[in-house]
Formats: sequence, structure tokens, C-alpha cells
Amino acid sequence: MKILVTGGAGFIGSHVVDKYIADGHSVDICDNLSSGKTENLNKAARFFNFDIRSAEARNLILAEKYDALNHHAAQISVVESTRDPLKDAETNISGLLNILCAAVESGSVKNFIFVSSGGAVYGDKKDLPIPETELPMPLSPYAISKLAGEHYVRALCANSSINFTVLRYSNVFGPRQDPHGEAGVVAIFSKLMIAGLAPKIYGDGTAVRDYVYVKDVAEINRLALNNPVNKEINVSTAEGTSVNRLFAIMAEIMGFDKKPEHLARRPGEVDRSIIDNSRLIKTFNFKPYYSIIEGLRETIHYFKIEFGK
Ligand SMILES: NC(=O)c1ccc[n+]([C@@H]2O[C@H](COP(=O)([O-])OP(=O)(O)OC[C@H]3O[C@@H](n4cnc5c(N)ncnc54)[C@H](O)[C@@H]3O)[C@@H](O)[C@H]2O)c1
Repeated sequence: MKILVTGGAGFIGSHVVDKYIADGHSVDICDNLSSGKTENLNKAARFFNFDIRSAEARNLILAEKYDALNHHAAQISVVESTRDPLKDAETNISGLLNILCAAVESGSVKNFIFVSSGGAVYGDKKDLPIPETELPMPLSPYAISKLAGEHYVRALCANSSINFTVLRYSNVFGPRQDPHGEAGVVAIFSKLMIAGLAPKIYGDGTAVRDYVYVKDVAEINRLALNNPVNKEINVSTAEGTSVNRLFAIMAEIMGFDKKPEHLARRPGEVDRSIIDNSRLIKTFNFKPYYSIIEGLRETIHYFKIEFGK
């Protein structure tokens, strides 16, 4: 298949590109390198340094006649989206629409994979794990733009011959994650702990997240490429891990003996976020393979080489 992956120079998108290339597909990447890196680019892919909001990106889709589009490019910061909701919407809504409308107009695209956020769109729900049938109640402009994106994808694909899959990721971790962002606790902790510094934990460390390893996420993108399902699918392990437990596992793997520094809890943070993965398992007959310990081992190994440079 001929596939365009937007955001293919980023953390998750680059793993998806690697997977598609390994499967023998012909892959192009559209990324403006705002947070993506050239070292993440798979050499077998063609790279277009275009913004998803641009005429160049639109013309690329019209000219190249892709079979499938995988849309990972996004403004990913919740904090930034709150500071500047318009800028968030320009990338996550207008940018998506530029790509999606071109896909419809191209007449060639048969499959559109849209990446949303299961950690964001549902809001703060008490009954866990959260299934896809739960009413989304987004609490940030980022969550709103992702949910709006889901609706645009469903509506525009329904009016054309494009099949789609919306993948609602929980907290993804793994090699190539940016340790400088506000999120990505595994990458942030790894960088500090490898340097022998104690990481900061906001609050008492009992906040729980549903961490899924990036290689499992890439595999799910492969399944969605081969079998588009025209619905939303949570991508998660459905298992909660507290920040304290995450730190303890990482400390054990690294032989790190300092205590973390506890700071005041940050306002607005959800206490517990776990999303259900029964639909994922039933639809694709696939259950995330990596345990948190296995995923952390591989990730720490990667960051040791990366930060040891
Ligand atoms: N990391 C997670 O835990 C997580 C959870 C839920 C959803 N997601 C979603 O997964 C996707 C990938 O996130 P990531 O964690 O790999 O982040 P990332 O920042 O590494 O990847 C985003 C990529 O998009 C590119 N990009 C951003 N704006 C662009 C624009 N206007 N034009 C072209 N390219 C642009 C960036 O350069 C980058 O390469 C995003 O859609 C994000 O919202 C991530």
C-alpha cells in the first residue's frame, strides 16, 4: 500500500512508519519538525517537511494518490492548548481538515486512521476502566479538538468511500519519547535518573495512569491499516500504575537508590485514568503484549544509550 503518515518524525508516528516499512509498504512522511526529529525518520520513507495546514500538504495528497492516511501530527500539549486554544485548534482541527478534505478529494484514499486521546476525551470519570460507550466530557481545548477531530473524521468518511479507525491512546511510553515535555513521565524520569538526579513527583504519587508501550501501539496501527473498523477504539492495557510504583520499577531496573522529591500536586490533574480495552481485544483479536516492566526495561536501555552519547 502507498501510505502517508503525518507526524512520522515524532515519537509514536516514527514507530508506526517503521512498522509499515517493515511490512513492505511504501511510506511518505509529512511533518513540520515542530517537535519531531530528523533522526527519527526512517531512511526508507520519503520525507516532506510540510505543515499539515499548508497547501503543500494538500497538494501532496492530491498528487500522490495514497491508499491510506495515518494522521499522527498534532499539537500535543494540554497546557499549551489552555494557554492558546486558537493555536491548538489551528493544528488539531484546521490542520486535520486540510488533510482529511484532501483525502476525500483525492478519490484514492480508502482508509483514514485518526489518533485521538483516551486519556483526554473522556474527562474525569469515576467508573474505571472507561469504555468507548462512555459519554466524552473533554476538560481542555486539546481534548475538545481531539474529540472534534473524531467527529469530523466519522462524518466526512461516511460521506465518501473512505473507511476509518479512531485510535484513542492512553499514556504511551517508549524509546524516542521527548523528555523535555510536560507529559511523558517515563522519558522525564529516565533522563533524570540516568544522570543520577532524583525525579520530582507532584502530589503523593498515588495518581494512576494506564501506560501502554509504543511497540504495541505501532502493532495496533498495523491492524487498523489492514482492517479499518469505522469506530473508536481505546488503545490501552486497562491496567493502572501509580507514579510511585512506576518510579519503584524504574529504580529497581536502574539500581537507583535516591528517593524522589515530592512537590505540591498540580491543579487540574486527573487522579486516576484507566481506559477499557475489551473492544480492542475483541475487534483485532490483539491484547497489548508488553508488560509495564518489559516496556520499561527496553525504554531505559534505549535512553541509557541516548543520554550516554
Ligand atoms: N504520547 C501519548 O501518550 C499520546 C496519548 C494520546 C494521544 N497521542 C497523540 O499521538 C500523536 C503523536 O503524539 P506523540 O506523543 O508522538 O508526539 P510528538 O510531538 O512526538 O509527535 C507529533 C508530531 O507531529 C508533528 N507536527 C506537529 N504539528 C504539525 C504541523 N502543524 N504540521 C506537520 N507536522 C506537525 C511534530 O513535528 C511531531 O513530529 C498526537 O496526535 C497525539 O495527540 C499521544
